[in-house]
Order: sequence, then C-alpha cells, then structure tokens
Amino acid sequence: MITFSGVQPSGIITIGNYLGAIQNFNPNSSKENNLYCIVNLHALTSNPDPLLFKEQTKSLLALYIALGIDQHSTIFIQSQVKEHTELAWILQTLVKMGELERMTQYKDKSNNNKENANAGLFTYPVLMAADILLYNSETIPVGQDQLQHIELARTLATRFNNKYQEIFKLPVAKLNKKGAKIYSLNDPLKKMSKSDPNPKSYISILDDLKTITKKIKSSTTDSLGEINYDIENQPGISNLLTIYSLCKNITIDQTIEFFKDQKYSFLKENLIEAIWQILEPIQDKYYQIIDNQKIIDQVLKDGQKIAKQKAEIQMKKVNKVVGLYD
Ligand code: AMP
Ligand code: TRP
Repeated sequence: MITFSGVQPSGIITIGNYLGAIQNFNPNSSKENNLYCIVNLHALTSNPDPLLFKEQTKSLLALYIALGIDQHSTIFIQSQVKEHTELAWILQTLVKMGELERMTQYKDKSNNNKENANAGLFTYPVLMAADILLYNSETIPVGQDQLQHIELARTLATRFNNKYQEIFKLPVAKLNKKGAKIYSLNDPLKKMSKSDPNPKSYISILDDLKTITKKIKSSTTDSLGEINYDIENQPGISNLLTIYSLCKNITIDQTIEFFKDQKYSFLKENLIEAIWQILEPIQDKYYQIIDNQKIIDQVLKDGQKIAKQKAEIQMKKVNKVVGLYD
C-alpha cells in the first residue's frame, strides 16, 4: 500500500503544515511504500523569484531530513521526475473546465480574478492528481483544504479506468483528526499559511524562541476571559488549545482539564514552552544538515531513483492503453 503526499516549497513550513500533515506521514512502512514529494512545479504557480525558490526547495528538503522522514520514506523533487507533467497532460484531456472552476483553492488563490490568474493555478489539481496516480498511491495524508483535490483525483482515476483500462487505484485522504486545520494566529477564521504576507499569523518551524514568544503573546483571543474549546464563539482560544494538544500529544479534553479556570496568559506561556519543546531539536538538526550538501545530494539521488523507476513503469502502461506512440 503506497502512501504519498506533497508539500510546496513556497516558504518555510509552519506548525500548521507540521501538525496538520507532516506529523501524520507514516513512519511504519518501507521507503518503497512511503513517497513524499517536494512539489516545486506546483509552487511555480505563485511565480517565485528563481534564486529564493531554489533555496526554499533545499530548505524544505533539509527540514524533511531533520524530521527523520528520509529514514522511512522516499523524498524527492517533483521536477526531477518528468513523468508527473506527462501524466498531467493526459489527465487534462479528461478533466472538465467546470470541475476545475469549482475548486475552492483556485477561487481563493485567484481572488476570483480570472484575467490575472495564471492557467497553472487553474490546472493545479490535475498535476496533483497526476502526482498521486503515477504511483498508484492509496493513502494521502493531507490537511482538510486538500480534500476537494483528492476527490478530483478519484474522479479522474475512475474516468480514465472506465475509458481505457483499469490502471489507477483510487486514493483516499488521511486526515489528522485534531490537526486537520490549524488557524492563523491573528485571524483565527483563516487557515494558518506559510504564504501569508503577515508573519505574525503563523509560527514557522524555524522561528526562534523569542519570535515564537512574541507571536503567541500577540495572538488573537477574545474578551470572554474563560478557557473553553468553542470554535464558533472562541476560535482563537480553541486554535491555541488544538496546537497545545497536538504538541503535547494529548486529547482536547485533557488539554481543557489542564487549563480550566486559568488565565489566557497561563495558556500562552505553556503553549510557547510546548511549541519550543517540539521545534528546538528539529532546528538543531536542520542547521547541521543545511550546510551538509553531501547528505542532501545523497537523499535526493536515492529518492529520484526510486520514484523514477515506479513512474516509468506506470507511464509505459498509461501510454500504451491511451494509444500514444511511446
Ligand atoms: P501547503 O503549505 O499548501 O503546501 O500544504 C502542505 C500540507 O500541509 C497539505 O497537506 C496541507 O493540507 C497541510 N496544511 C497546510 N496548512 C495547514 C494548516 N493551517 N492546518 C493543517 N494542515 C495544513
Ligand atoms: N496541493 C497540495 C497543497 O497545496 C500539495 C500537493 C501537490 C499534494 N501534490 C500533492 C498533496 C499530492 C498531496 C498529494 O498542499
């Protein structure tokens, strides 16, 4: 059973990425069955500066290694396995414009402004479907925002299988129940995002203790003065409770029990400590790895080899049933 997921190198990942998706990457399997892709072609849809883009890609790779993901998984870069774009093109001939127009991420990212949005942003979910189907992936650990895209990947797999031949398996999203969505610190109705222009809205996985302290202390709460898990009426406090429970690996009930009758400042102080407990060892490792080009190159080489081998086999089958000269 193949597990597959992708993260865009569009900035340093946040604790939202980490607690919502990456922490859920399956450590109990083999390198052959766990594939984690750095989806730089997807990130290109935001037109990054080339030098910065390359740095961010390397940084994400170093973070994966710091998190130990390379020990049990294949890590690779999307643009180094050309079959992703090859399959995406074939799937583009099966997807309907209407289906893509209904994708909420496209609507959000384009601000409903078709004149200015690039076409890559529009066809983004098709490339994502190709990422997944290229490896016959069955389990996709992601945050809640990706569910619609995975549904589309299932639709396209079914459509392809019915039209040509039963080649693709149908992928299933795997949500981390509590951390499926971590919200912005200064606007707790919005998703925490690494591409948010306001850095106060997120905790980056590389933020130092001083920065984390400032950001958590200034995070939005409410004037009720009572610690409850109530997403509707106290979204800010509920979000902080969620983050705490995930950092400490305890339930929301246990978290509430601990903070009941306490002040908001007590919650914030404890949260800062809990976050730092998680991030400090990750950062120590990251700074060792980012300067070690040899380790980075080796992980990439190994990853590309495993991914490419699988992708070539799948594309041969696909091209054959579609009737393409290969
Ligand atoms: P992205 O940052 O868009 O490349 O997302 C990478 C992965 O992290 C995806 O599986 C997202 O669903 C997940 N993710 C991103 N932001 C959050 C968040 N605020 N809460 C939970 N999961 C998230
Ligand atoms: N679209 C995903 C995001 O923005 C990233 C992604 C690309 C992905 N390809 C994927 C996630 C394949 C899971 C599987 O977060």
